[in-house]
Amino acid sequence: MTTSKLFEPYRGPVLNTPHRVAMAPMTRNRAGETRVPNELMATYYKQRASAALIVTEAVDVSPRAVGYPGTPGWYTDEMKAGWKKLVAEVRSAQVAPAPIFSQLFHTGRVSHTSFQPEGGAPLSPSSDAAPVQLYTAEGMQAASPPEALTKEGIAEVVAEYVAAARAAFDAGFDGIEINGGNGYLVDQFLKAGCNQRTDEYGGGPDDRIRFLVELVDAISLAIGPSHVAVRVSPVNPTNGVSDPDPQSLYTALVDALRGKGLAYLHMIEPAASPEVTRVIRERFDGTIVVNDGYDKALAEAAIRDGLADLVSFGKAFLANPDLPRRFDVGAPLNEPDPATFYGGTDEGYTSYPSWTDG
Ligand SMILES: Cc1cc2nc3c(=O)[nH]c(=O)nc-3n(C[C@H](O)[C@H](O)[C@H](O)COP(=O)(O)O)c2cc1C
Repeated sequence: MTTSKLFEPYRGPVLNTPHRVAMAPMTRNRAGETRVPNELMATYYKQRASAALIVTEAVDVSPRAVGYPGTPGWYTDEMKAGWKKLVAEVRSAQVAPAPIFSQLFHTGRVSHTSFQPEGGAPLSPSSDAAPVQLYTAEGMQAASPPEALTKEGIAEVVAEYVAAARAAFDAGFDGIEINGGNGYLVDQFLKAGCNQRTDEYGGGPDDRIRFLVELVDAISLAIGPSHVAVRVSPVNPTNGVSDPDPQSLYTALVDALRGKGLAYLHMIEPAASPEVTRVIRERFDGTIVVNDGYDKALAEAAIRDGLADLVSFGKAFLANPDLPRRFDVGAPLNEPDPATFYGGTDEGYTSYPSWTDG
């Protein structure tokens, strides 16, 4: 019998979960050249069916959203059929019902012409190239200089997100999580270090949050706000996107999202110093999921102290398909192997063992 807060059921204004140990979204690049979800991916998620909330890897909303090999998409009938089968299989593997969300992303400037239809330029709010090297068919190459989105282009991208969200909802997901962090398209709009626009999508915090808020509103209209979640990374400069004043930016964002009835807000911020999250917690009226560097003890403290409602685990869930049970019984954890994180076979993907008692 556990007394841990981590294993208390959660009843939120929108989201209900059987306990508090969620699976963070993780790109694993196992969808091959077709980018269609396959049986190996279904096995991986089924193995992790005991999560309080499963957030899938980031899924490309359209062909122009792509920036990596082997990431799955939401834009063909085969992809939709693959996800429908996968989500049904994961549900049938769940012992207690728990929500399953599809993370939607558009890589924006974190892309290369070789991933783009007809070799075109990637899209971004501004035209500065991402200061990163990308894994392409011809080896590591610098991210390609992007084309700054026009207003018509922004409206098209919003429509692509709406179509992907509808497809996810129709396929049986409980909802979608907008990937608003880690330097991808939404983050490129949010953060001053990347967004140089002079129209209403650039400038102060209220302008830089506009694209994300438009996405939230358009998707909410299509599938209902209770099926929409947002993930942000206020302080991490992944993919060369940073902001000098995250408190102001994310205060503006939470003020805009409050009252919309969203499923949850997912904060990526180091467990040791969740400064922005503390402010968000005070101002947000919905469920908060925290992530980044948590272990069992830190997660328990975050729930107990009221910082968060759920804690998501990335690398620990990757390496421990039965992570909630291991936490519950105090079992040792398998170590993740970074060499097999991004692409490859079943090795380092579905090969991590579950805990067996004695
Ligand atoms: C292999 C790998 C892939 C990831 N892919 C994504 C992703 O697709 N979307 C996302 O929002 N975060 C992604 N992340 C970040 C994780 O969700 C999480 O924020 C990070 O691992 C920190 O949490 P942890 O300390 O529990 O591992 C990825 C992390 C890893 C290790």
